[in-house]
Parts: sequence; C-alpha cells; structure tokens
Amino acid sequence: MYNMRCIGVLTSGGDAPGMNAAIRAVTRTAMFNGLQVKGILRGYKGLITDEIVTFQTESVSNIINHGGTILKTARCLEFRTPEGRRQAYDTLMRHQIDGLVVIGGDGTFTGARLLAQEYNYPIVGVPGTIDNDLYGTDTTIGYDTALNTIVSAVDKIRDTAASHERLFLVEVMGRDAGFLALNGAIAVGAEAALIPEIATEEDQLERLIQNGFHKMKNSSIVLVSESDATGGAMGVAQRLKEKGYDPHVTILGHIQRGGSPTANDRILASRCGVAAVDALLDEQRSIMIGIMNNKIVHVPFTDAIKDEKPVDKHLFDVLRLLCI
Ligand code: F6P
Repeated sequence: MYNMRCIGVLTSGGDAPGMNAAIRAVTRTAMFNGLQVKGILRGYKGLITDEIVTFQTESVSNIINHGGTILKTARCLEFRTPEGRRQAYDTLMRHQIDGLVVIGGDGTFTGARLLAQEYNYPIVGVPGTIDNDLYGTDTTIGYDTALNTIVSAVDKIRDTAASHERLFLVEVMGRDAGFLALNGAIAVGAEAALIPEIATEEDQLERLIQNGFHKMKNSSIVLVSESDATGGAMGVAQRLKEKGYDPHVTILGHIQRGGSPTANDRILASRCGVAAVDALLDEQRSIMIGIMNNKIVHVPFTDAIKDEKPVDKHLFDVLRLLCI
C-alpha cells in the first residue's frame, strides 16, 4: 500500500494531436483527487536534466484545442541505458513524485516498463501516437486527427490528379504500421495502399501492375506507408518508372503530426487521462490505458509494445472492391 501525494506527467516520442487534452485530463483528475501534479519537460530527457514544473489547474487551461504538447517531447537515448534510468529515478525521488503518467507510443512504454521494473515504481501509460500501432487498444490519441489530415490533403491532390489524368503516390507516416495508409486509402477512395505489414508477405506493387491498375483509369492515387519495407513513395516511383509508368510523388510528412485534434481524439485523450490517474490511485502499475469496444481497458506494458497489433486484412477487400 503506498500513499500517493504527487504524480508526474510527461509526453515522449513523436508528438500527437490530443496529447494536450490528455495532459489536461491527467492534471485535473489528479487535482480533483487532492494530488499535486508536476509536469516533466521534454519526456524522459527532462527527468535526466531535471526540468520539472509544478502544475496548477490553470497550467492546463485553453490547451484542449491545441496540437503538439505543452510539455514538449523528445526521443531520449540516455534513458535507454541503466545509468540514464538511475538518474531519472533519482530526480523523481528528489521531487517526491510518487507515480508517473507517461503519454506516448511503444518507445515510451518500453522505457517505462524498464524503469518501473528496476525501481518497483508505479507508472501508467496513455497511448499517444498517430501510428495507432499499440496492441490492446482499438485506437490511439492522434490517429484520428492524422487520418483526417491525410484525407483533406489527398482530396486536394485528387483535384489535380483528375485534371491532368495522372498517377499519384502519396507517402503517409506510420513507419512500421499501415493503419494510416490503409484506412486513409479507403477514406479518400484511393486505388491501393502499400503497407509494411503486407510487404514481406507479397509484392503488392507487382500485383497492382499485373492488374493494370492505372490503365483502367485516367487518374489513380496510391497511398504508401513511409517504411523500409515498402520502399516509401520514392522507392515505389522508381520501380513504376522502370515499368513505363509516370508517377508523381507527394510526401505528406510532418503536417500529419500537427493541427487541432478532432473531437474523437479529444474525447479519447480525456477518457484515457482520467482512467490513468484512477488506475494509479487504484494501485495499478506498468499498464497502458486502452479503449476496446468503447470501454476503458488496462493493458500490461509488455502486451502493448509486443508489436503484434494486426491490420484487418478485410479492409483490403473493401479498398479493392470500391476502386473498380
Ligand atoms: O511514431 C510516430 C511517427 O510520426 C512515425 O509515423 C514516423 O515514422 C516517425 O514518428 C517520424 O519521427 P521523427 O519526427 O522523429 O522523424
């Protein structure tokens, strides 16, 4: 039984729209329960460099509608070492922070799991990544906003693709996960999605070419996940050129990580933030808060990061059927 009086909150890894809504929910829920809240700047880096601010309720006023993260974020190499985590733990103790809420993706929870295990320290995670690649939750904070950003960008590309009767390859984020590309492709009415999960199973591009995908239409749009497995849009364009096609490439890049969060992301972030503090108060630890079938669930860090969240292959059938 531990007596929780003060919690820390940080954001780590790639930022995602809705992280601010999550920070707000964590802070307000903690304060409602009589806890003190400390904001840790720049993710785990701030625990090593001792960049910690005491939050008041107004510290999180007027942020629910903003993308990015008021706490800043970083990918911290030092924290991957035992020495770095020792420094981080010492900082937590110096500031009398009794438990931590970490908002981020798989890298964030990998680090959290190690710190929690090495020092028997209470940590709860909130899923914040546009990639939607965390196992045990139907969706992650930022994914819906990024998907909508992709839709509005590709709708514009479609205007010019149709006018010039061109083939466009649009590269979207997702690194090792094709959720943005596949669902984005369905949402924009694209001809195909090339995603990393399938790349090792079959040569999707070869199949498309054999099916003569662009010859049947005046203009075509293909979404490609940025990934070594797919070769990215530039790699795919090279292969298509060798086969006599004339593709145009657009790389959407970091615009996908910015912008005001959608209502869905704000609600998800708010629910997860509340549940994270409740879980800490309930003496839960080393878990990520998730949402499955619209219900809050607790997912052990080891499961959340196990790299097995499957894409629904039936979505390919939907895509293929609707683009004939
Ligand atoms: O993990 C989120 C993500 O946006 C990925 O989709 C992308 O591959 C990566 O981060 C880019 O990271 P960075 O901004 O550090 O280059």
